[in-house]
Amino acid sequence: MSGKTVLVTGGAGYIGSHTVVELIENGYEVVVVDNLSNSSYDSLSRIEILTKHHVPFYHVDLCDRAGLEPVFQQHKIDSVIHFAGLKAVGESTQIPLEYYHNNILGTLVLLELMKKYDVEKFVFSSSATVYGDATRFPDMIPIPEECPLGPTNPYGNTKLTIEFILNDLFKSQTDLWKFAILRYFNPIGAHPSGLIGEDPLGIPNNLLPYMAQVASGRREKLNVFGNDYDSRDGTPIRDYIHVVDLAKGHIAALKYLDSFETTKKTGICREWNLGSGKGSTVMEVYRAFCKACGEDIPYEVTGRRAGDVLNLTAKPDRAKKELHWQTELNVDIACTDLQKWNTENPFGYQLRGVEAKFAT
Ligand code: NAD
Ligand code: WQD
Repeated sequence: MSGKTVLVTGGAGYIGSHTVVELIENGYEVVVVDNLSNSSYDSLSRIEILTKHHVPFYHVDLCDRAGLEPVFQQHKIDSVIHFAGLKAVGESTQIPLEYYHNNILGTLVLLELMKKYDVEKFVFSSSATVYGDATRFPDMIPIPEECPLGPTNPYGNTKLTIEFILNDLFKSQTDLWKFAILRYFNPIGAHPSGLIGEDPLGIPNNLLPYMAQVASGRREKLNVFGNDYDSRDGTPIRDYIHVVDLAKGHIAALKYLDSFETTKKTGICREWNLGSGKGSTVMEVYRAFCKACGEDIPYEVTGRRAGDVLNLTAKPDRAKKELHWQTELNVDIACTDLQKWNTENPFGYQLRGVEAKFAT
């Protein structure tokens, strides 16, 4: 048991909540900060049931320095995992200022307080979106970390900007800072307990949450965004990664940063892809999900979605070699776990039991 305290920003959200569980199971103390703009406190209540462990929670916006500073004063924070951010690609093109403000300013305030309170280890949620359309470089698929970067939307630009900020800060004191930049591919699934999972507000943007809502009768049918791509069945290829595998990647990154602290006596700022290395098409995932449901859910092929690309599959070798991490689960297991979460919580965290029956 490490007993070290990890500050998890955005810990009430989808990936954050699963990571909090893994942290507790690995003996870390956890403190969560979240403004609940895209989540609810119920996820943390469920974590307490699951882990039988109290999770201190601060309902604070990261951009609110005066609200955040007491968290650093009240806890001896050893490291930070930074999930908090706005993440909807389409929305970011409609309200880019909100995205830049929230994601960049929130990160700056957090880093400034880390500097002030001598917290040097930081794990950042970046995204495969920083690669943009990697099919521009056919010899770069599967995508290694060295692939040229080129996000194509404001959300992706905020992620790359934060990567730049981290690199610049590291260069200012290379013996001090220890930064792990994790570029996630497509996180899916839910905790196998059925107690925590993804709970999107409004109409889901992503494939799996949308299919889940079709299965539970909240949406009429899945729209498959184009089947005229140059893939084995005409639908785009993504590297879907079980959220529990992804959560474990954060423990591996923290341990790696710890090892720098204890043995190397130097800092680091480095990027790792977190993906499986295996691409699945939309129709392959659709079939896996139908199998998990025990029935075929309705779908219709519609036109391509603006901004979609043919193939985003990770080359995860660096994470395997350096973080000693690789995926252990797969799309079938993720679909089974998602469907368990979905059937046991058809309306997410907020509405359960009788209330759920009357929800629209
Ligand atoms: P999420 O929306 O479920 O979680 C993010 C959490 O951050 C939410 O609980 C939200 O309330 C909180 N938050 C947002 N802005 C905040 C602020 N200013 N102050 C405090 N809390 C704030 O999203 P997620 O899917 O769990 O994603 C977590 C991180 O991983 C995000 O940074 C996201 O960009 C990144 N990421 C997600 C995916 C994905 O497909 N889910 C892929 C790649 C990267
Ligand atoms: C997957 C595939 C769609 C919905 C996004 C962000 C990326 C990262 C992960 C944060 C695509 C198809 C989808 C639907 C469909 N997030 N699809 N019908 O676009 O690969 O990645 O989430 O960093 O930045 O862009 O994920 O789940 O939206 O789509 O046919 O209703 O499913 O066309 O091929 P995407 P997704």
